[in-house]
Amino acid sequence: MTRPHVPYEPIAWADGAVRLLDQTALPEETRTLALGSVDEVAEAIRVMRVRGAPAIGITAAYGLALAAHLAPQGPDGTAAKAVHRAAEVLAATRPTAVNLRWAIDRVLRAIAGYEGEATVRAAALAEARAIHEEQHDADRAMAEAGAVLFPPGATVLTHCNTGPLATGGLGTALGVIVEGYREGRVAHVYADETRPRLQGARLTAWELQQHGVPFDLIADAAAASLLAAGRVQAVIVGADRIARNGDTANKVGTLGLAVLAQHYGVPFYVAAPVSTFDFDKPDGAAIPIEERDASEVLEVGGVRVAAPGASALNPAFDVTPAPLVTAFVTEAGVLRPPFEEPLGMLAARAAALKRERAG
Ligand code: MRU
Repeated sequence: MTRPHVPYEPIAWADGAVRLLDQTALPEETRTLALGSVDEVAEAIRVMRVRGAPAIGITAAYGLALAAHLAPQGPDGTAAKAVHRAAEVLAATRPTAVNLRWAIDRVLRAIAGYEGEATVRAAALAEARAIHEEQHDADRAMAEAGAVLFPPGATVLTHCNTGPLATGGLGTALGVIVEGYREGRVAHVYADETRPRLQGARLTAWELQQHGVPFDLIADAAAASLLAAGRVQAVIVGADRIARNGDTANKVGTLGLAVLAQHYGVPFYVAAPVSTFDFDKPDGAAIPIEERDASEVLEVGGVRVAAPGASALNPAFDVTPAPLVTAFVTEAGVLRPPFEEPLGMLAARAAALKRERAG
Protein backbone atom coordinates (compact mmCIF):
# COMPACT_ATOMS: atom_id res chain seq x y z
CA MET A 1 0.00 0.00 0.00
CA THR A 2 1.51 3.40 -0.95
CA ARG A 3 1.34 5.92 1.84
CA PRO A 4 0.68 9.64 1.73
CA HIS A 5 3.85 11.45 2.69
CA VAL A 6 4.05 12.91 6.19
CA PRO A 7 6.89 15.47 6.08
CA TYR A 8 7.96 14.91 9.70
CA GLU A 9 8.57 11.94 11.95
CA PRO A 10 6.83 12.27 15.35
CA ILE A 11 8.09 8.96 16.84
CA ALA A 12 10.95 6.64 15.91
CA TRP A 13 13.36 4.10 17.32
CA ALA A 14 16.96 4.67 16.22
CA ASP A 15 20.41 3.88 17.58
CA GLY A 16 19.11 2.45 20.83
CA ALA A 17 17.00 5.49 21.72
CA VAL A 18 13.36 6.59 21.48
CA ARG A 19 13.23 9.62 19.21
CA LEU A 20 10.38 12.09 19.63
CA LEU A 21 9.49 15.35 17.98
CA ASP A 22 9.05 17.45 21.14
CA GLN A 23 5.42 18.60 20.97
CA THR A 24 5.92 21.09 23.80
CA ALA A 25 8.40 23.00 21.58
CA LEU A 26 6.12 23.15 18.50
CA PRO A 27 5.32 25.24 16.58
CA GLU A 28 8.22 27.58 17.42
CA GLU A 29 10.85 24.88 17.22
CA THR A 30 11.04 21.44 15.56
CA ARG A 31 13.25 19.71 18.09
CA THR A 32 13.86 15.98 18.07
CA LEU A 33 14.69 14.37 21.41
CA ALA A 34 16.71 11.17 21.75
CA LEU A 35 15.51 9.53 24.96
CA GLY A 36 17.96 7.05 26.40
CA SER A 37 16.24 5.96 29.62
CA VAL A 38 12.81 4.70 30.64
CA ASP A 39 12.45 7.62 33.07
CA GLU A 40 12.98 10.07 30.22
CA VAL A 41 10.32 8.31 28.15
CA ALA A 42 7.91 8.40 31.11
CA GLU A 43 8.59 12.09 31.67
CA ALA A 44 7.99 12.82 27.98
CA ILE A 45 4.56 11.17 28.13
CA ARG A 46 3.64 12.79 31.47
CA VAL A 47 4.48 16.36 30.44
CA MET A 48 3.08 15.79 26.93
CA ARG A 49 6.23 16.04 24.82
CA VAL A 50 4.33 13.25 23.06
CA ARG A 51 0.56 13.08 23.40
CA GLY A 52 -2.47 11.69 21.61
CA ALA A 53 -3.77 8.23 22.49
CA PRO A 54 -2.08 6.05 19.83
CA ALA A 55 1.16 8.06 19.99
CA ILE A 56 1.62 7.52 23.70
CA GLY A 57 0.95 3.80 23.25
CA ILE A 58 3.61 3.52 20.54
CA THR A 59 6.07 5.57 22.61
CA ALA A 60 5.52 3.35 25.66
CA ALA A 61 6.06 0.26 23.48
CA TYR A 62 9.40 1.66 22.29
CA GLY A 63 10.10 2.56 25.94
CA LEU A 64 9.78 -1.15 26.79
CA ALA A 65 12.10 -2.03 23.91
CA LEU A 66 14.52 0.49 25.44
CA ALA A 67 14.22 -1.17 28.86
CA ALA A 68 15.16 -4.50 27.27
CA HIS A 69 17.99 -2.86 25.35
CA LEU A 70 19.44 -1.31 28.54
CA ALA A 71 19.00 -4.37 30.76
CA PRO A 72 22.33 -5.36 32.33
CA GLN A 73 23.82 -8.74 31.56
CA GLY A 74 22.62 -11.26 34.10
CA PRO A 75 21.00 -14.62 34.55
CA ASP A 76 18.10 -15.59 32.28
CA GLY A 77 15.02 -13.50 33.09
CA THR A 78 16.96 -10.27 33.84
CA ALA A 79 15.82 -8.46 30.69
CA ALA A 80 12.21 -9.61 31.10
CA LYS A 81 12.18 -8.31 34.67
CA ALA A 82 13.52 -4.93 33.49
CA VAL A 83 10.73 -4.75 30.90
CA HIS A 84 8.07 -5.54 33.52
CA ARG A 85 9.49 -2.86 35.86
CA ALA A 86 9.43 -0.33 33.02
CA ALA A 87 5.86 -1.32 32.19
CA GLU A 88 4.76 -0.27 35.70
CA VAL A 89 6.46 3.11 35.35
CA LEU A 90 5.12 3.83 31.86
CA ALA A 91 1.57 2.63 32.58
CA ALA A 92 1.30 5.13 35.44
CA THR A 93 2.04 8.19 33.29
CA ARG A 94 -1.43 9.01 31.94
CA PRO A 95 -4.70 7.30 32.88
CA THR A 96 -7.33 8.02 30.22
CA ALA A 97 -5.98 6.84 26.86
CA VAL A 98 -6.42 3.06 26.80
CA ASN A 99 -3.90 2.72 23.96
CA LEU A 100 -1.14 3.17 26.54
CA ARG A 101 -2.06 0.06 28.57
CA TRP A 102 -3.05 -1.81 25.40
CA ALA A 103 0.37 -1.29 23.80
CA ILE A 104 2.22 -2.15 27.03
CA ASP A 105 0.23 -5.38 27.38
CA ARG A 106 1.01 -6.30 23.78
CA VAL A 107 4.75 -5.99 24.36
CA LEU A 108 4.52 -7.92 27.65
CA ARG A 109 2.63 -10.72 25.88
CA ALA A 110 5.20 -10.69 23.05
CA ILE A 111 8.14 -11.28 25.41
CA ALA A 112 6.34 -13.90 27.50
CA GLY A 113 8.17 -17.20 27.27
CA TYR A 114 11.53 -15.64 26.30
CA GLU A 115 14.30 -15.71 28.90
CA GLY A 116 17.60 -14.79 27.20
CA GLU A 117 18.52 -11.11 26.81
CA ALA A 118 18.86 -11.21 23.04
CA THR A 119 15.49 -12.85 22.45
CA VAL A 120 13.65 -10.54 24.88
CA ARG A 121 15.23 -7.51 23.21
CA ALA A 122 14.34 -8.71 19.73
CA ALA A 123 10.77 -9.63 20.69
CA ALA A 124 10.10 -6.31 22.47
CA LEU A 125 11.44 -4.21 19.60
CA ALA A 126 9.66 -6.26 16.95
CA GLU A 127 6.34 -5.84 18.78
CA ALA A 128 6.83 -2.08 19.26
CA ARG A 129 7.59 -1.76 15.54
CA ALA A 130 4.54 -3.85 14.66
CA ILE A 131 2.27 -1.64 16.81
CA HIS A 132 3.66 1.46 15.07
CA GLU A 133 3.31 -0.08 11.61
CA GLU A 134 -0.26 -1.25 12.28
CA GLN A 135 -1.19 2.28 13.37
CA HIS A 136 -0.08 3.57 9.95
CA ASP A 137 -2.30 1.02 8.25
CA ALA A 138 -5.25 1.71 10.57
CA ASP A 139 -4.93 5.46 9.97
CA ARG A 140 -4.87 4.93 6.24
CA ALA A 141 -7.99 2.75 6.38
CA MET A 142 -9.79 5.29 8.62
CA ALA A 143 -8.92 8.15 6.26
CA GLU A 144 -10.39 6.28 3.29
CA ALA A 145 -13.48 5.08 5.14
CA GLY A 146 -14.18 8.45 6.75
CA ALA A 147 -13.51 10.98 3.98
CA VAL A 148 -16.59 9.87 2.02
CA LEU A 149 -18.82 10.90 4.94
CA PHE A 150 -18.29 14.58 4.13
CA PRO A 151 -20.45 16.23 1.46
CA PRO A 152 -18.35 17.82 -1.33
CA GLY A 153 -16.95 21.23 -0.34
CA ALA A 154 -17.74 20.82 3.36
CA THR A 155 -16.49 22.96 6.22
CA VAL A 156 -15.48 20.63 9.02
CA LEU A 157 -14.88 21.47 12.67
CA THR A 158 -12.40 19.57 14.85
CA HIS A 159 -11.08 19.67 18.41
CA CYS A 160 -7.67 19.05 19.98
CA ASN A 161 -4.97 17.46 17.80
CA THR A 162 -5.51 14.14 16.04
CA GLY A 163 -2.92 14.28 13.27
CA PRO A 164 0.36 12.37 12.72
CA LEU A 165 1.69 13.93 15.93
CA ALA A 166 -1.07 12.16 17.85
CA THR A 167 -0.73 8.72 16.23
CA GLY A 168 2.73 8.36 14.72
CA GLY A 169 0.89 7.52 11.47
CA LEU A 170 -1.47 9.73 9.42
CA GLY A 171 -3.75 10.69 12.28
CA THR A 172 -7.30 9.73 13.15
CA ALA A 173 -9.82 12.59 12.70
CA LEU A 174 -7.20 14.84 11.11
CA GLY A 175 -6.18 12.02 8.75
CA VAL A 176 -9.81 11.78 7.64
CA ILE A 177 -9.94 15.56 7.15
CA VAL A 178 -6.71 15.66 5.11
CA GLU A 179 -7.93 12.81 2.89
CA GLY A 180 -11.28 14.61 2.55
CA TYR A 181 -9.41 17.71 1.39
CA ARG A 182 -7.49 15.65 -1.19
CA GLU A 183 -10.77 14.28 -2.51
CA GLY A 184 -12.43 17.72 -2.70
CA ARG A 185 -14.89 16.90 0.05
CA VAL A 186 -13.37 19.20 2.66
CA ALA A 187 -12.95 22.81 1.56
CA HIS A 188 -12.19 24.40 4.93
CA VAL A 189 -11.51 23.48 8.55
CA TYR A 190 -12.36 25.24 11.79
CA ALA A 191 -9.88 24.09 14.42
CA ASP A 192 -10.69 24.70 18.08
CA GLU A 193 -7.70 26.22 19.85
CA THR A 194 -8.36 23.65 22.64
CA ARG A 195 -7.73 25.28 25.98
CA PRO A 196 -5.90 24.78 28.24
CA ARG A 197 -2.96 23.09 26.45
CA LEU A 198 -3.77 24.64 23.07
CA GLN A 199 -3.20 21.47 21.04
CA GLY A 200 -5.40 23.01 18.31
CA ALA A 201 -3.62 26.36 18.13
CA ARG A 202 -0.11 24.93 18.41
CA LEU A 203 -0.28 21.50 16.80
CA THR A 204 -3.36 21.14 14.57
CA ALA A 205 -2.67 24.53 12.96
CA TRP A 206 0.93 23.46 12.32
CA GLU A 207 -0.11 20.10 10.87
CA LEU A 208 -2.81 21.61 8.62
CA GLN A 209 -0.16 24.00 7.32
CA GLN A 210 2.19 21.07 6.59
CA HIS A 211 -0.62 19.46 4.55
CA GLY A 212 -1.73 22.70 2.86
CA VAL A 213 -5.31 22.46 4.13
CA PRO A 214 -7.12 25.84 4.47
CA PHE A 215 -8.31 26.51 8.01
CA ASP A 216 -9.17 29.06 10.66
CA LEU A 217 -8.39 28.65 14.30
CA ILE A 218 -11.33 29.48 16.52
CA ALA A 219 -11.69 30.07 20.24
CA ASP A 220 -13.39 26.96 21.66
CA ALA A 221 -16.39 29.08 22.65
CA ALA A 222 -16.92 30.22 19.03
CA ALA A 223 -18.01 26.76 17.87
CA ALA A 224 -21.59 27.27 19.08
CA SER A 225 -22.32 30.33 16.95
CA LEU A 226 -20.66 28.82 13.86
CA LEU A 227 -22.81 25.69 14.19
CA ALA A 228 -25.90 27.82 14.84
CA ALA A 229 -25.22 29.82 11.68
CA GLY A 230 -25.02 26.67 9.53
CA ARG A 231 -21.35 27.29 8.77
CA VAL A 232 -20.23 23.74 9.70
CA GLN A 233 -21.32 20.62 7.80
CA ALA A 234 -19.64 18.05 10.07
CA VAL A 235 -17.75 17.76 13.35
CA ILE A 236 -15.07 15.08 13.63
CA VAL A 237 -12.88 14.29 16.63
CA GLY A 238 -10.62 11.50 17.88
CA ALA A 239 -10.92 9.50 21.11
CA ASP A 240 -8.82 8.38 24.06
CA ARG A 241 -11.05 5.53 25.21
CA ILE A 242 -14.40 4.25 23.98
CA ALA A 243 -16.46 2.05 26.31
CA ARG A 244 -18.34 -1.08 25.21
CA ASN A 245 -21.57 0.91 24.77
CA GLY A 246 -19.88 3.60 22.63
CA ASP A 247 -19.52 6.30 25.31
CA THR A 248 -16.42 8.20 24.23
CA ALA A 249 -13.73 9.90 26.32
CA ASN A 250 -11.85 12.59 24.43
CA LYS A 251 -10.22 15.97 25.09
CA VAL A 252 -12.27 18.15 27.41
CA GLY A 253 -14.67 20.24 25.34
CA THR A 254 -15.69 17.36 23.07
CA LEU A 255 -18.94 16.74 24.98
CA GLY A 256 -20.03 20.35 24.49
CA LEU A 257 -19.40 20.06 20.75
CA ALA A 258 -21.41 16.83 20.54
CA VAL A 259 -24.38 18.41 22.33
CA LEU A 260 -24.21 21.43 20.02
CA ALA A 261 -23.91 19.26 16.92
CA GLN A 262 -27.02 17.30 17.87
CA HIS A 263 -28.93 20.50 18.68
CA TYR A 264 -28.14 22.02 15.30
CA GLY A 265 -28.53 18.79 13.29
CA VAL A 266 -24.86 18.52 12.29
CA PRO A 267 -23.26 15.04 12.11
CA PHE A 268 -20.77 14.30 14.89
CA TYR A 269 -18.14 11.69 13.96
CA VAL A 270 -15.53 9.97 16.13
CA ALA A 271 -12.49 8.51 14.34
CA ALA A 272 -10.52 5.97 16.36
CA PRO A 273 -8.60 2.74 15.80
CA VAL A 274 -9.92 -0.48 17.33
CA SER A 275 -7.12 -0.22 19.94
CA THR A 276 -8.94 2.80 21.45
CA PHE A 277 -12.04 0.70 22.25
CA ASP A 278 -12.01 -0.69 25.78
CA PHE A 279 -14.51 -3.54 25.75
CA ASP A 280 -13.86 -4.20 29.46
CA LYS A 281 -15.50 -0.89 30.39
CA PRO A 282 -19.31 -1.16 30.16
CA ASP A 283 -19.90 2.57 29.81
CA GLY A 284 -18.34 6.01 30.12
CA ALA A 285 -18.76 6.17 33.90
CA ALA A 286 -16.05 3.49 34.21
CA ILE A 287 -13.46 5.49 32.24
CA PRO A 288 -10.80 7.17 34.42
CA ILE A 289 -10.57 10.89 33.66
CA GLU A 290 -7.17 12.51 34.07
CA GLU A 291 -7.00 15.58 36.31
CA ARG A 292 -4.00 17.69 35.36
CA ASP A 293 -2.28 20.44 37.28
CA ALA A 294 -4.31 23.60 37.92
CA SER A 295 -1.43 25.69 36.58
CA GLU A 296 -2.43 24.66 33.02
CA VAL A 297 -5.68 26.63 33.50
CA LEU A 298 -4.28 29.45 35.63
CA GLU A 299 -1.50 30.15 33.12
CA VAL A 300 -1.19 30.62 29.37
CA GLY A 301 2.17 29.64 27.91
CA GLY A 302 3.68 29.54 31.40
CA VAL A 303 2.51 33.09 32.25
CA ARG A 304 -0.06 33.45 35.00
CA VAL A 305 -3.25 35.13 33.76
CA ALA A 306 -5.67 34.23 36.58
CA ALA A 307 -6.35 36.54 39.50
CA PRO A 308 -3.94 36.02 42.38
CA GLY A 309 -5.36 33.41 44.75
CA ALA A 310 -7.78 31.96 42.15
CA SER A 311 -7.99 28.16 42.10
CA ALA A 312 -8.79 26.00 39.07
CA LEU A 313 -10.16 22.60 38.12
CA ASN A 314 -8.48 20.86 35.22
CA PRO A 315 -10.19 17.67 34.00
CA ALA A 316 -8.29 16.86 30.80
CA PHE A 317 -11.05 14.78 29.17
CA ASP A 318 -14.82 14.44 29.11
CA VAL A 319 -17.18 11.65 28.09
CA THR A 320 -19.62 11.99 25.21
CA PRO A 321 -22.59 9.63 25.56
CA ALA A 322 -22.92 7.23 22.60
CA PRO A 323 -26.36 8.56 21.51
CA LEU A 324 -24.67 11.84 20.51
CA VAL A 325 -22.30 10.06 18.09
CA THR A 326 -23.51 9.88 14.47
CA ALA A 327 -20.90 7.24 13.53
CA PHE A 328 -17.52 5.81 14.52
CA VAL A 329 -14.86 5.70 11.83
CA THR A 330 -12.50 2.75 12.44
CA GLU A 331 -10.08 0.74 10.34
CA ALA A 332 -12.75 -1.96 10.35
CA GLY A 333 -15.23 0.41 8.69
CA VAL A 334 -17.85 2.97 9.66
CA LEU A 335 -20.08 1.94 12.58
CA ARG A 336 -23.55 3.44 12.76
CA PRO A 337 -26.22 3.24 15.46
CA PRO A 338 -27.65 1.20 16.99
CA PHE A 339 -24.08 0.51 18.12
CA GLU A 340 -24.74 -2.64 20.11
CA GLU A 341 -24.34 -5.01 17.19
CA PRO A 342 -21.33 -3.43 15.40
CA LEU A 343 -19.52 -2.85 18.70
CA GLY A 344 -20.23 -6.46 19.73
CA MET A 345 -18.69 -7.62 16.43
CA LEU A 346 -15.69 -5.35 16.95
CA ALA A 347 -15.21 -6.73 20.48
CA ALA A 348 -15.29 -10.29 19.14
CA ARG A 349 -12.78 -9.40 16.43
CA ALA A 350 -10.44 -7.75 18.98
CA ALA A 351 -10.67 -10.79 21.28
CA ALA A 352 -9.93 -13.17 18.38
CA LEU A 353 -6.88 -11.09 17.38
CA LYS A 354 -5.62 -11.15 20.97
CA ARG A 355 -5.95 -14.97 21.08
CA GLU A 356 -4.19 -15.27 17.71
CA ARG A 357 -1.28 -13.09 18.90
CA ALA A 358 -1.01 -15.13 22.10
CA GLY A 359 -0.39 -18.07 19.74
O1 MRU B 1 -4.17 15.31 26.26
P1 MRU B 1 -3.89 14.85 24.85
O2 MRU B 1 -3.35 15.92 23.97
O3 MRU B 1 -3.05 13.59 24.84
O4 MRU B 1 -5.31 14.45 24.30
C1 MRU B 1 -5.41 13.98 22.99
C2 MRU B 1 -6.81 13.84 22.54
O5 MRU B 1 -7.74 14.05 23.28
C3 MRU B 1 -7.01 13.33 21.16
O6 MRU B 1 -8.22 13.82 20.65
C4 MRU B 1 -7.09 11.80 21.19
O7 MRU B 1 -5.97 11.24 21.83
C5 MRU B 1 -7.23 11.22 19.86
S1 MRU B 1 -5.72 11.38 18.97
C6 MRU B 1 -5.60 10.45 17.74
